[in-house]
Amino acid sequence: MPKDSQQLRENLVACLPSLVIEEVAAESGQRVVYFGHFEDARISPDVIEEFNDEPSNFLLGWEKWGRVVIKVVADASAEALARLQAETSILSEVRPANFPVLLYCNLFIDNPVSDEQLPEKLYVSIEEFVISSTLAHTMEAYEWKVNAVIDLCIGIADALSPLWLHPRRFVHRDIKPANILIKPCGSVVIIDLGIVRETGSVGLTSNGWGNAPLTLDFAAPEQIANDKDAISFKTDFFAIGVLMYRLLAGQHPFREKNNMNDFELAYAIENETPKSLKELGVANSEISEFVSWTMEKFPWKRPRTPALFIEKLTALKII
Ligand SMILES: Nc1ncnc2c1ncn2[C@@H]1O[C@H](COP(=O)(O)OP(=O)(O)O)[C@@H](O)[C@H]1O
Ligand SMILES: [Mg+2]
Repeated sequence: MPKDSQQLRENLVACLPSLVIEEVAAESGQRVVYFGHFEDARISPDVIEEFNDEPSNFLLGWEKWGRVVIKVVADASAEALARLQAETSILSEVRPANFPVLLYCNLFIDNPVSDEQLPEKLYVSIEEFVISSTLAHTMEAYEWKVNAVIDLCIGIADALSPLWLHPRRFVHRDIKPANILIKPCGSVVIIDLGIVRETGSVGLTSNGWGNAPLTLDFAAPEQIANDKDAISFKTDFFAIGVLMYRLLAGQHPFREKNNMNDFELAYAIENETPKSLKELGVANSEISEFVSWTMEKFPWKRPRTPALFIEKLTALKII
């Protein structure tokens, strides 16, 4: 499991000599995420000389990117590596508008300056730093505010549409407050394509309970069952429905008591129907029905297409 350590930082700076690591943003078990920036002055003249002819203009001028996000997978398992590569390939090929811009990515096996083999392989991706706060930090700004929640969810659905509608039919699969950035102007940026998948692809894990990578609080029943054939954009609809419910009811739809363990929560998501928002007295019938519709246990019962999802969601706004 990759962890932040002095050794990892040293190896990273050996690969990217102008990098200044500022702080750790997150250690998720699969990878370490740092915030940092580049300073041209740190590159020695020999290195500039050596890489002068590189078409990528390796390192020189990276200072202009300002603050960046550096995601590192060290000595990756095939699975962790495949995940990070899926993320970087979508960011560079699909270039979805409301995702951070991918600036650079590479698998380092040798130190590019000394040509010596690294103690551990490093898969490094560098993204634009988005000035924002995560929704996890700003939940209160949305709680019980119907139009703000609807706008937020339209923003999420608009951001995900290029993935959903792509010929390869990508599904984000990890829509949750920590992966939603809110810019100061209120617009939404989605991050963390770490467990994205293509609808119908074979994927990295075996079918069945307990094998799926997921965040249980926002996972749909088909994700909990790791029923790959059933995972589609409707899996992301379910997560958006849980988020809407959580914000409008002030409570999670499936956490009906404190300290539920994973098995209890998974059971509730797969089997229980929470009280509707109307029954709780926190939303009108239209909003309540929409949220229940997106949280249907069977994907085929949820909104049929991304366009219909966005159309119905937009119609819910109270003017
Ligand atoms: N491009 C970005 N701009 C600003 N903050 C970011 C960016 N990417 C990630 N972060 C921050 O780093 C955290 C972890 O990043 P994420 O991509 O979600 O990795 P993981 O969940 O796999 O650790 C996020 O919750 C967010 O706070
Ligand atoms: Mg994340």
